[in-house]
Amino acid sequence: MVCGGEAGDRPRIVDRIVEHGLCERQIYAIMRYRRYVFVFHQDFPLPTQVIDSLAELKPFIADCKGQFKSIGVVPTMGALHAGHLSLAKASLSQADVTIVTIFVNPTQFAPTEDLAAYPRTLEQDLQQLGQLGDIVVFAPSEADVYPPEATTRVIPPKISKKLEGEFRPTHFAGVATVVLKLLNMTQADKAFFGQKDFQQVAVVKQMVKDLNVPCEICACPIVRDEDGLALSSRNAYLSAEGREVALTLSKTLDEIESQIKSGLTDGFEVITEMRQMLIDGGVDSIDYAIVVNPVDLETSDPIRLPVVALIAAHVGKTRLIDNRIIE
Ligand code: PAJ
Repeated sequence: MVCGGEAGDRPRIVDRIVEHGLCERQIYAIMRYRRYVFVFHQDFPLPTQVIDSLAELKPFIADCKGQFKSIGVVPTMGALHAGHLSLAKASLSQADVTIVTIFVNPTQFAPTEDLAAYPRTLEQDLQQLGQLGDIVVFAPSEADVYPPEATTRVIPPKISKKLEGEFRPTHFAGVATVVLKLLNMTQADKAFFGQKDFQQVAVVKQMVKDLNVPCEICACPIVRDEDGLALSSRNAYLSAEGREVALTLSKTLDEIESQIKSGLTDGFEVITEMRQMLIDGGVDSIDYAIVVNPVDLETSDPIRLPVVALIAAHVGKTRLIDNRIIE
């Protein structure tokens, strides 16, 4: 915000902005709150509208639908980074209204996992979204999403049993349940998910198809740091040395991709090599390092393109996942 003043005094406020060295064209938004007018400049974030209850969301959605506006939703658990922001940008470009949901969903965490420690950074999240454009944040309470009597759960599709499902057996039931709830609450026409969670996108697409949910699921590319590390809210847990080790995941995927593209077709050899590279790179343990068919997630041996190489590995106490579609 560059300047504020009494409501009804807009011409003088604009004069004062010009005195600040800004031209009128640079004025981004003028908001009226009680007697004051607040002027926002394009270099400053827009104030993001936050809806924190279902009661408040319902009339907002009814209003959008009444105006035939298409709704894009980006489900997140907050602690936003450029990966999440890329999904919000995709929604801004494809839907009339963009809703980013922020909800750390307890049902997708096992009792042994990091629910309590999961980073919660609402202030920064709102700042970042404000830089992108006109976004509504829906940040419901746990009581709104899971009132005590709401015991219905989604049984996720068969592909949820593999890979992540072997190591986190209750995870996808929690994901599928909350995603279905969020799609229903927001009445979204399109929902945006990252390929970073390759299996999650596959599970959500199958669920939406199986349960006839009228929402298009859009998958967006993985956003990485300059050195190749896939962005993740959990990267915040890594020490400086841990971050170096974590790079082994993307380096292994680079190497495997180039080997497969130059003709390696022996699935067993590929998997053995991936595991060796991860161990040599210093990861503490490997949940899976595998090359599968992208449709049914069945192992591909001999390798026939397209395939997806997926890794889940632990660096210290941090569990990291990454993948590469090879076509
Ligand atoms: P969260 O981990 O917050 O991720 C929200 C969305 O951001 C997911 O679709 C995820 O794939 C995407 N994302 C994360 N890192 C990314 C990256 N580096 N590049 C591109 N996209 C990235 O995934 C969840 O939350 C939850 O399971 C949720 C779907 C919200 C259900 O609770």
